[in-house]
Amino acid sequence: MTDVHTTHPAPGVLSRIFGTGQDGEGHEQVVLCHDRTSGLKAIIAVHSTALGPALGGTRFFPYGTEEEALQDALNLSRGMSYKNALAGLDLGGGKAVIIGDPDKDKNEAMLRAYGRFVESLRGRYITACDVGTYVQDMDVVARETSHVTGRSPEHGGAGDSSILTAFGVFQGMRASARARWGQPTLRGRRVGVSGVGKVGHYLVGHLVADGATVVVTDVSEAAVNRVRAAHPEVEVVADTAALLSSALDVYAPCALGGALTDDTVAVLGAAGTAVVCGAANNQLAHPGVEKDLADRGILYAPDYLVNSGGVIQVADEIEGFNFDRAKNKATKIFDTTLEIFTRAAADGIPPAVAADRLAEKRMREISALRSVLLPAARRS
Ligand SMILES: NC(=O)c1ccc[n+]([C@@H]2O[C@H](COP(=O)([O-])OP(=O)(O)OC[C@H]3O[C@@H](n4cnc5c(N)ncnc54)[C@H](O)[C@@H]3O)[C@@H](O)[C@H]2O)c1
Repeated sequence: MTDVHTTHPAPGVLSRIFGTGQDGEGHEQVVLCHDRTSGLKAIIAVHSTALGPALGGTRFFPYGTEEEALQDALNLSRGMSYKNALAGLDLGGGKAVIIGDPDKDKNEAMLRAYGRFVESLRGRYITACDVGTYVQDMDVVARETSHVTGRSPEHGGAGDSSILTAFGVFQGMRASARARWGQPTLRGRRVGVSGVGKVGHYLVGHLVADGATVVVTDVSEAAVNRVRAAHPEVEVVADTAALLSSALDVYAPCALGGALTDDTVAVLGAAGTAVVCGAANNQLAHPGVEKDLADRGILYAPDYLVNSGGVIQVADEIEGFNFDRAKNKATKIFDTTLEIFTRAAADGIPPAVAADRLAEKRMREISALRSVLLPAARRS
């Protein structure tokens, strides 16, 4: 037997994408897509198919640099592996980005060209909506591929995913209340919601119905007015800084990522805020913030766990959408959040680390089932 020699060229972009091959961290597949006629430039990143086809939305965004676009695709697809694993879905993690301004550049030919690239992966990647793409866009993508979800109800889709996202965040917040105060309710608590867009405004509805005192802020006057019209009792403050320092029991970041920085966590700690639980993706601005939160006694409900109601909804569409079935699955976010808090306390680690470990455990254990050969089904 001859020795197998592997050539190791100097590390470059491939090492960045695929990792060293030793830490299990690298992406499985990254596809660069270019359609000369429509001008489509897209990146489809499949982080992991350990649990099944990689599901994740398509972000249409005017990235400043190509580097940023690639990094976003890599980060977001990795995040989807963890989110889908913890949500108990038989789906891996993927995400795509289309480089461009959705308001100026998006058109039918470009979306359909993108759909053909998705189809070319033969189901290894299933797409859906994300920032800059909407259910109507997925209806167009669906004219070229069957590997698309998040379509409109008229086309058999699940429609607006923010309804179950907000419901799931509310379940995570109820679990946080139970862990912190003994009862799974926000009644009598002061909850601050930053960002009352699609998810935030539904979340406010759940909180008001539960008896919470709700304070909101948003850079969009229209978004604030919409909430005030539906819930006149809601208090409005000028900006997120004012919200953070306003003696909240619970802070719910529901706008953009990176809401939890060294500075904001210090303000929350000084104001005596007990819980952070919101819809925004990638809330922790950098590694270490999760420990800072724990050290200050602030209970942090991991973002990708509590905001998984939306992906649960679009995943359900793959089977033929049933709202009650999807809602039942999203209800389980309550139990999983409690489980994460219990594991974190038992192991003396922040909840964000406990969530990562549980997701990794499921990916490891379920993907290992493939070692049990099923010859007749010809599944690998
Ligand atoms: N929609 C979903 O199903 C879903 C699922 C999972 C995660 N998320 C995440 O939840 C967050 C909200 O999503 P959405 O669908 O409601 O988006 P959205 O765009 O409808 O709402 C975001 C709101 O935040 C406001 N905002 C922006 N910057 C702000 C700032 N600095 N201060 C205060 N408000 C600000 C915007 O004006 C807008 O009203 C995002 O981070 C998104 O990635 C959404």
